[in-house]
Order: sequence, then C-alpha cells, then structure tokens
Amino acid sequence: MVFPENRMRRLRSSEAMRKMVRQTSLNVTDLIYPLFVKAGRAVKEEIASMKGCFHFSPDSIVDEAKEIQQLGIPAILLFGQAVQKDEQGSQAWAEDGAVQQAVRAIKMACPQLLVITDVCLCAYTSHGHCGVVNDAGKIDNDASCELLAKVALSHAQAGADVIAPSDMMDGRVAYIRQAFEENGFYDTAIMAYSAKYASAFYGPFRDVADSTPTSGDRKTYQMDPANIDEAMAEIALDIEEGADIVMVKPAICFLDVISRAKAEFDIPVAAYNVSGEYMMINAAADAGVLDREVAMMEMLVSIKRAGADIIITYFAKEVAKLIK
Ligand code: PBG
Repeated sequence: MVFPENRMRRLRSSEAMRKMVRQTSLNVTDLIYPLFVKAGRAVKEEIASMKGCFHFSPDSIVDEAKEIQQLGIPAILLFGQAVQKDEQGSQAWAEDGAVQQAVRAIKMACPQLLVITDVCLCAYTSHGHCGVVNDAGKIDNDASCELLAKVALSHAQAGADVIAPSDMMDGRVAYIRQAFEENGFYDTAIMAYSAKYASAFYGPFRDVADSTPTSGDRKTYQMDPANIDEAMAEIALDIEEGADIVMVKPAICFLDVISRAKAEFDIPVAAYNVSGEYMMINAAADAGVLDREVAMMEMLVSIKRAGADIIITYFAKEVAKLIK
C-alpha cells in the first residue's frame, strides 16, 4: 500500500488517536526518587548545584518520605555524607551514621515505602575514591569489597529493603550477598550499578556529595563510554554473584546499552537518569531555549522505550504530580 491509501498521519490526527496508539507509557510506579541525607537536626537545605534537590537530616527526611509515598512513588534511593572523612571511609558503616538513622526513621514512619541505599565509599574517604587506596596509590579491589560489604550490612541492619552498590569494584556483589546470607538478611535485595560509566554527567552530584577524587579519576573502575560488550559482561557477572536488579548509568547517552541489557537478560533493568541529565534540562529551560516539562517527559519516556523497567530520577516528584 502506498500513498494516497497509506497516510501515516491518520494515527496522529487527534490527541485521542495518539493516546490510543501510544506504545510507551511512563508510570509513577516506574520511578525511584534519590534523596540526600546529612547529619544534623531539622536540616532542609536546597542544593546549589542541583536546583530543586535538598539535603535532609535524618529527622526532617521523614516528612519528605511521607510526601513521596503519598505521590505513589514506590521507592527512594538514599545517599549519605561524612562528617569526618578518613582513608578507609569508616563513617560509611557507622551504626549511627546519617543514612543508617534515616533508614530507621523512614521505615518506622513509612513501612510501605521501599528504602534503597547507595553503597559506596567515595563520600566518606579523604581521597574521594570509591575504594581504598593502597601504598602504591592504586585502588585495592578486594580490600574495598570487604569494606563495601560492611557498609551494605550496616544498611540492611538499619532496615534497608534494597542496597545499591555504586563503586564498580569486581566481585562486590558476591561479597555483599555472602554477608547478607551469613547474617540472615535473606530478603534484602541488591540493585547493582552494573554498567556504570566514567561519565562527565555526574558533575552536579559530586558537588553535592563532596565526592570528587582529590587525585586521579575513576577510569580504573568505571567503564569506558565507548564500550558495550563489556557492559553485558558486567551485568552477567553481577547476576551470577546475586544481584536482583541490574542498572545502567547514566541513561541518556547509553540508551543502546539499556536496550541490549533488556534484550539479553531476564531480570529487571534500572536506568539512572543522573544529575547532569537533570541539570542539562534545568539549565536549558532557565536559558529559555526549551520547554522544561516537555523535555523532561521526552527524556524519561525515551529511557522507558529503550527498555528500562525502573528509572531513578530527580524528576520523580514532578512527574508523579504531572501524570497523576
Ligand atoms: C557514587 C555515586 C555517584 C553517583 C551515584 N553514586 C557519583 C560517581 O560515581 O562519581 C552519580 C549520581 C548522579 O550523578 O546523579 N559512586
């Protein structure tokens, strides 16, 4: 059939028609909202590098969690910050750390809300790397895994439903899974940052978490943006080691990685719409060159269309209000 019998525009002729043939829908239940915790009382401070995002103390985060639950968003992802950093990042596994306190407070007030915690050392180490640095100045992979398992266990003990290792050390999922099995945390899920790229798009986040490495970069552990086969190998290993959900991060420059992951593996795939992707839209909207809301929806629907089952995004609250 050719023109004039076949007119593709027929299915675009009205909003009702477009709605009927729409293939991809973004749902509130697809979303995870990231939140930043820091020590203190009654803290709610807007973050300068990430307009619309706030730092909360473990007490004030409870009201925020209630609001998120009310919006129908099923999960939050918590990031912490050290008061005192050291070489090992030992505050990351402190029983009374800001994240651990926040998890307890939120689970008490909102037992239905899924609490996910980011597990990494970079916000807690004096050098800002995601693992420990040995005498030769290199990241010690296996020693890092041991500490990461301690961090994960402390989060599970506080009541986290899901822990999410973002460090990119080899074998850390296995270390964490073993620590959970040994301590009876059979139901604590692992959402692994499996294909995490060494990306410029984490810029705004590193300002927030104060986690920029003081020397070197993350290229010996995070992936080269030029590679995709390696992402599949990383995902396969994480699943073998005991991950329940795998993640591709960032999302927008890596939509092909998301689609391939969804096609090749049979477990949920999450995509992280990172801080730089969020701020790119905010900055362009502030400059008056695009419509913020439309651009936001286009970005998120594209991530879903690529194959993501779950989207971690700083836009989550806004989207929830919009599509409700
Ligand atoms: C910590 C971590 C980072 C992000 C999540 N966990 C930063 C990094 O790896 O440097 C980035 C999140 C974002 O940019 O929104 N390892």
